[in-house]
Amino acid sequence: MDVQAIKQRFGIIGISPLLNRAIDIASQVAPTDLTVLISGESGVGKEVFPKIIHQLSSRKHGPYIAVNCGAIPEGTIDSELFGHEKGSFTGAHESRKGYFEVVNTGTIFLDEVAELPLSTQVRLLRVLESGEFIKVGSSKVIKTNVRVVAATNIDLTDAISQGKFREDLYYRLNTVPIKVPPLRERKEDIHLLFKKFATDFAEKYRMPPLQLDAEAIKLLINYRWHGNVRQLKNITEQISIIEQTREITAETLLKYLPHIQQRDLPVLYRKDSDNKDISERDLLYKVLFDMKKDIHDLKHVVGEILQNEDLTKDLQQNNAQLIKKLYDNFEPAGESISDYNFHHTHDDHVVEPIEESEVIEESLSIQDKEIDLIKKALAKHNGKRKSAARELGISERTLYRKIKEYNIE
Ligand SMILES: Nc1ncnc2c1ncn2[C@@H]1O[C@H](COP(=O)(O)OP(=O)(O)OP(=O)(O)O)[C@@H](O)[C@H]1O
Ligand SMILES: [Mg+2]
Repeated sequence: MDVQAIKQRFGIIGISPLLNRAIDIASQVAPTDLTVLISGESGVGKEVFPKIIHQLSSRKHGPYIAVNCGAIPEGTIDSELFGHEKGSFTGAHESRKGYFEVVNTGTIFLDEVAELPLSTQVRLLRVLESGEFIKVGSSKVIKTNVRVVAATNIDLTDAISQGKFREDLYYRLNTVPIKVPPLRERKEDIHLLFKKFATDFAEKYRMPPLQLDAEAIKLLINYRWHGNVRQLKNITEQISIIEQTREITAETLLKYLPHIQQRDLPVLYRKDSDNKDISERDLLYKVLFDMKKDIHDLKHVVGEILQNEDLTKDLQQNNAQLIKKLYDNFEPAGESISDYNFHHTHDDHVVEPIEESEVIEESLSIQDKEIDLIKKALAKHNGKRKSAARELGISERTLYRKIKEYNIE
């Protein structure tokens, strides 16, 4: 079966050479009995690979079981995998067959294999090497004929150096490695996947599919997708449900992308991405400049309020809402601007902080502004409270109270 046909049969979307290569290896190794280790970040689509391998092998009429090693409690995992004898532990009223016995002549998929306790790893190594295992509480050796495919989203060599994973088991599992690439290494697949999911959800929720404009496509492709295909799918579903319009702009899309994090930046500004990712950088700048403009506007409004009104009263009544609205407008653009810390990387292509960054650092605290204005007014009127109060647009009593409250000299 060629790669194209496999994609069709198993519903795999994508044209990237790295994805094709992974599928090709799976199809080549399927007819053998070799153990396969599938690795790749969370959400990249590992789970379809053991199915491909099983279906394209001579074991396809035998049983197939997927075991999530991370989901089984440590106390029962040996018994689940290898079975136990009656009376081997409290509660073992009957003897029980384990997966390795049940799956005889078939394929077992050990998902999240790094989660196996070390003692279970020893048993697994033995069954991989000799096809033999012993039930918990038994001494009888049982033979089985099982093909093992394992998957992990962590780096097993790290787990080995931390003493959590046996090196000998790693080499035994890793007879044929298949690496499923993250989305950022197959950007050509991102929009294809989005369109596929948008169509699926349109069908599910009975509405026309979402459409992205050019800017939104750029943003989609250049976003870092830590959760890979799973995250892309979830976000497509959220937008499908929540947005009234089907024409999605970059601004709308941005609302659904978890805020661009500090850890995303080194990738944006990596040397080799200097030319490729210009659009991504442009976009980020645009976000920053928009935020800066918002802050200017906010300062202006706050300044006006302070000059013209009795602050305490009016803020509480009329303007609190306005301020809140302005603050709400920051939401789509991300967290506080200082989170975009351009200095945290040691890359020598670090981008200089945008000019006039003091605008950002200046205190936007209303209270600070108020104190500042009161001081200025008092200085201007040589400490005369009556004139200062008139200039500030507040009553002399309010001014008196504020001087005491803020401890102004
Ligand atoms: N190429 C693809 N085409 C279509 N759907 C895909 C593709 N890759 C992944 N998916 C979908 O994305 C979701 C996540 O994939 P999957 O469950 O295989 O991730 P995973 O690699 O096992 O992640 P984890 O390590 O977190 O378990 C699934 O709903 C899967 O159907
Ligand atoms: Mg998985």
